[in-house]
Amino acid sequence: METVDILIKNSNELITLKGPNKPRKNKNMSNIGIIRNGDLAINDGLIVDIGKKLNYKASKTIDAKGKTVMPGFVDPHTHLVFAGSREFELDMKLKGATYMEILKKGGGIKYTVNQTRKASNNLLLEESKKRLDSMLSYGTTTCEAKSGYGLDTKNELKILKINKKLNENHSVDIISTFLGAHAIPDNYSNHEYTKLIIEEMIPRVKDYAKFCDVFCERGVFTINQSKKILKAGKKNGLTPKIHADEIVNTGGASLAAEINAISADHLLRSSNSGLNKMAEKEVIGVLLPGTPFSLMMKEYVNARNMIDLGVPVALATDLNPNCWVESMQLMIQLACFNMNMTSAEAICAATFNASCAIGLNNYIGSLEKSKVADVIVLNCPNHKFIPYHFGINLVETIIKKGNLIKLKELTET
Ligand code: NIG
Ligand code: FE
Repeated sequence: METVDILIKNSNELITLKGPNKPRKNKNMSNIGIIRNGDLAINDGLIVDIGKKLNYKASKTIDAKGKTVMPGFVDPHTHLVFAGSREFELDMKLKGATYMEILKKGGGIKYTVNQTRKASNNLLLEESKKRLDSMLSYGTTTCEAKSGYGLDTKNELKILKINKKLNENHSVDIISTFLGAHAIPDNYSNHEYTKLIIEEMIPRVKDYAKFCDVFCERGVFTINQSKKILKAGKKNGLTPKIHADEIVNTGGASLAAEINAISADHLLRSSNSGLNKMAEKEVIGVLLPGTPFSLMMKEYVNARNMIDLGVPVALATDLNPNCWVESMQLMIQLACFNMNMTSAEAICAATFNASCAIGLNNYIGSLEKSKVADVIVLNCPNHKFIPYHFGINLVETIIKKGNLIKLKELTET
């Protein structure tokens, strides 16, 4: 009998997400490949077998009877590295202040930029590591992380280098995005700052990021500026992503399709015509239900409509000082309760489609032979429990690249 490193036995539901290796849309988002009473064999960091009643000797056997086993969550949109906090904005939001009003009063992104510029590398590393530990304990095994709280070449590079260091030293894999175009820093016009991003920043940061992102929004970067920045990124090898139509519909969804962005994120105000263009080009719609939740808004994206239009949908936390959340389980809950997604669709959005949104679907996002063994065991009998039993952490075992993570060793949060 062959020996493997880890054998997971008898899971009540083994959610494989097996299927075509491209963004899942329409009905395909609901086919999450469940095997009842399934087993999973892991060796040398990879999934080597999957099925029922597997016959292996194992160095470690995990009894998953009555439990749910699935791929680790992939969080494809975070602003992981920042300093300080903005809990004082809560009262402003309670009194009805909008995101843009807070930003104009010197709060919001600019407040965090000041804190982040002042912070030492060590402080940023430590603070971000705590958040990564928390993400991992809630089952996230890979995430994307954006710069964007530097807004000058030196500080944007500082953040991207911290991403790199965290990626090298932490179990969670991190894919970096350059988001120099997150806000307009003081003493610059939009035009001058756009020029700086294109001519100075992108060439300097290009080896530290895989994606280039822009906050395309009324009062921040126009469609035209966003297009120029994303095109310059592309020329330097950075794949476009975009914060689109979060507050006002400026045509961000259409731009994402036009420039072949890998994803367009937020999309609360996007028109059907923009969404149709995204569907045609298979641009992934990354939905961030934590953002309207933290902004105390009543409106959420109608994900049902988006899925029916054929947009492949992913979910992410948007972890940032305005929306400080590390849990993809909560995103699934909000998506089901407020955005009309089914539990199966939300799980697909938080795993496989999320891996597509960061270009990693060849390696992660589903439990299939030869894929990386990023696996979580949830203390619940089936996938519907993930939205159903909310407010607690259902994840009890995490395996990253075939290594069993000891939860106790993660930073206590
Ligand atoms: O994706 N919208 C722009 N950026 C972030 C918020 C950043 C912040 O408020 O610090 C977002 O929601
Ligand atoms: Fe964001």
